[in-house]
Amino acid sequence: MSSRTELLISHSRILLPDGNFMVGDVAVQQGKIVGIAPEISAPETTTVIDATGLTLLPGVIDPQVHFREPGLEHKEDLFTASCACAKGGVTSFLEMPNTRPLTTNQAAMDDKLQRAAQKCLVNYGFFIGATATNLAELLSVQPTCGIKIFMGSSHGALLVSQEEVLDPIFASGDRLIAVHAEDQARIEQRRKQFAGNTDPAVHSQIQDEQAALNATKLALKLSKKYQRRLHILHLSTGIEAELLREDKPSWVTAEVTPQHLLLNTSAYEKIGTLAQMNPPLRSPENNQILWQALLDGVIDFIATDHAPHTLEEKAKGYPQSPSGMPGVETSLALMLTQAVEGRCTIAQVSRWMSGAAAKAYNIPNKGAIALGYDGDLVLVDLDNYRLVRREELLTKCGWSPFEGWNLTGWPVTTIVGGEIVYDRGKLNTQVRGKALTFFDNS
Ligand code: DOR
Repeated sequence: MSSRTELLISHSRILLPDGNFMVGDVAVQQGKIVGIAPEISAPETTTVIDATGLTLLPGVIDPQVHFREPGLEHKEDLFTASCACAKGGVTSFLEMPNTRPLTTNQAAMDDKLQRAAQKCLVNYGFFIGATATNLAELLSVQPTCGIKIFMGSSHGALLVSQEEVLDPIFASGDRLIAVHAEDQARIEQRRKQFAGNTDPAVHSQIQDEQAALNATKLALKLSKKYQRRLHILHLSTGIEAELLREDKPSWVTAEVTPQHLLLNTSAYEKIGTLAQMNPPLRSPENNQILWQALLDGVIDFIATDHAPHTLEEKAKGYPQSPSGMPGVETSLALMLTQAVEGRCTIAQVSRWMSGAAAKAYNIPNKGAIALGYDGDLVLVDLDNYRLVRREELLTKCGWSPFEGWNLTGWPVTTIVGGEIVYDRGKLNTQVRGKALTFFDNS
């Protein structure tokens, strides 16, 4: 190997792009993977990680997170969130525009990019948010992974719920449109019906399955009308999945969160408002149908919708409590545990959490361990179980809906652009990620 090899990960079980494993070495030079072989020799100056017994996967790409900066830093900020990413094996993220100010124009995008360059330990990309009046910006702001539309459940000026306003957005340009699909008018009507009810479980009844289905149908209708690239965020119901199973145009993708796969309405009894999110948790039957849709390729990939709120805010009680839960620290271990326990394969988890998102968002050279690809990698330990513990979490909000869950597949070492950002419990806070690039979208 060249004398400039900087990092050598030796003796790991490497997940190859074809889904097979190979025990061997991976060499990284200037941030890129330059060698994958049973044995690679490197000069003495190379940093060598002895990864015997560990599994090497492409770093996770989390394509839907809310990191709260600027404006809501009491919940999370780009530094704390990216530390949580590094610990969770997430090496790239795509972040949503419901910050303060909203990310709806070039100045707000530039500000976020500048903050991220200063603070982020992992790679970053940002959505541009649609309003009723920023069509020109939706076409021009750069760089972006795509346009985010909140069809519901309300986000101030970002709420675009009416077909007459949605139509011109779908008609203009060809950027990816990602939708939060809930029918706001229906939600508002049902909210009146349940007024005065403070049981957090009614959240799933107010924002019911029909509300999700109505909006998904409308988004699909507009996407078909203009053959517009559409991504449906956090699919929560079996009826939406079945709709897509029957009729999913080739230019449409969909995602699901670990929460919608692994938690259901029984969580309200155990963790109250900590289980409150949008779209809400559903019944165990929905968990099953969503799993099957993911296994069958109807759902393309996984995102966490990491949406931290403080415990104080959550303690206000329903319906004052805000919706959302954190996720980047636990998502990979949650899904790898499912694989180890036989529900899917490790290769599927990696495709859902890395390769498929890179493909959908046209992110070059990420999502696989292959020559010339970026050295964004995570070494995981599939042989040891450990509990999710509140006191160990790095997210600023300081809690997880999965506390007490016993998981395996925890990241041991996370590498971003060839640099070790997390290793056996320790962060290297000097590492900085890069702005992601997107073919076609920007
Ligand atoms: O529960 C949620 N909370 N869902 C979203 O889509 C937004 C998020 C937030 O920003 O708090």
